[in-house]
Amino acid sequence: MTDTTLPPGLHPDTLAVREAVERSQWGEHSEALYLTSSFVQSDSESSARRFAMEEPGYTYTRTANPTVESLERRLAAMEGAESAIATSTGMSAILLLALTMLKSGDHIVASQSMFGSTIKLLGSEMARFGVETTFVSQTDIAAWQAAIRPNTRVLFAETPTNPLTDLCDIAALADLAHAHGALLAVDNSFASPVLQRPVQLGADLVVYSGTKLLDGQGRVMAGAVCGSPAIVEKTMAPFMRCAGLSLSPFNAWVVLKGLETLSLRVKAESAAALDLAAWLEGHPKVARVYYPGLPSHRQHELAMRQQGGMGGTVLSFDVLGQGAEQLRANAFHVIDSTRVCSITANLGDVKTTITHPASTSHGRLTEDQRQAAGIGQGLVRVSVGLEHLDDLKADLLRGLDSLQ
Ligand SMILES: Cc1ncc(COP(=O)(O)O)c(C=O)c1O
Repeated sequence: MTDTTLPPGLHPDTLAVREAVERSQWGEHSEALYLTSSFVQSDSESSARRFAMEEPGYTYTRTANPTVESLERRLAAMEGAESAIATSTGMSAILLLALTMLKSGDHIVASQSMFGSTIKLLGSEMARFGVETTFVSQTDIAAWQAAIRPNTRVLFAETPTNPLTDLCDIAALADLAHAHGALLAVDNSFASPVLQRPVQLGADLVVYSGTKLLDGQGRVMAGAVCGSPAIVEKTMAPFMRCAGLSLSPFNAWVVLKGLETLSLRVKAESAAALDLAAWLEGHPKVARVYYPGLPSHRQHELAMRQQGGMGGTVLSFDVLGQGAEQLRANAFHVIDSTRVCSITANLGDVKTTITHPASTSHGRLTEDQRQAAGIGQGLVRVSVGLEHLDDLKADLLRGLDSLQ
């Protein structure tokens, strides 16, 4: 009988297409989709042992499912983490983290320039459960340090941030967190494990919106948390069993297949984003471009060191204009003049997407929160896909060249 277990020491690109649960008795080449809500048990004794977690085996998909497990194993392997747990969305991954790592009276320090719903969840929703969050400038390590209190349990960063592509030095933040007995959690949705593997840099927990680059074709919602077995398997998995934030096997299968092309997509989209960002920087109607791959980005050196020499697949830019009203009108004009790009707030898709963060992803924040995050009315975010660059430039030029 051939040994089908993978040898140790494989590269992430190999694990991205090979790591999965064992094939079924049918020998399928593409991983099977186990679209079933429950599993038939051979007898009541065995069923009792499985429900009591005394015997391995599947019982009910909210608890575990082989397709979901394949995704968890593959993502953990790519991340260089020991464990991963899949969730229904990126936000449910962050909720899972918050509800298992924090209790009433605890404190979080978090970046003030993260995705809008993350700010809402950590800043407002968790406050109802007695958890307090202090938001700090993502890029200022001294501000993180100053905000830490004796009851600080988690430092939460998103690097690069949505939409301004601010970074944080993951290794430095991990050292800071650990020196104060706290955990560092990093939202790695923008970089993906292809560009950066936060666990390898000292982070304790890595969260993903699988809806973004991991799927990569805008099909399904998904999320995940990667970390140590002590946290993921001992604390998060039992909570998941009763909380039901579980990922559907169908969505898991789609993301599992997405991971197989992740490396190729991220590298190609990153190269295109760099070209587009440099080109936008030269346009007279563009006030400023935010892209870590550009030498003008204030953390360019850190980005090159931390993200494998690549800037990522998302860039943002401010259009020129005077006052909030005109800036908003100009940004809307550029967005509405596109015919190839999709006007949608999702990102990480092979189809280029364009959006106005101040009225979409960050629209529910207060003006103060938006100002703190640096998101103005003239800001446009582009998630670069796989179309020909000339077509994307022509698409953006239509609106930029006709701005008054
Ligand atoms: C950085 C980041 N984290 C988390 C999320 C939330 O993910 P989901 O939409 O899958 O819940 C998003 C969504 O845009 C995001 O951009």
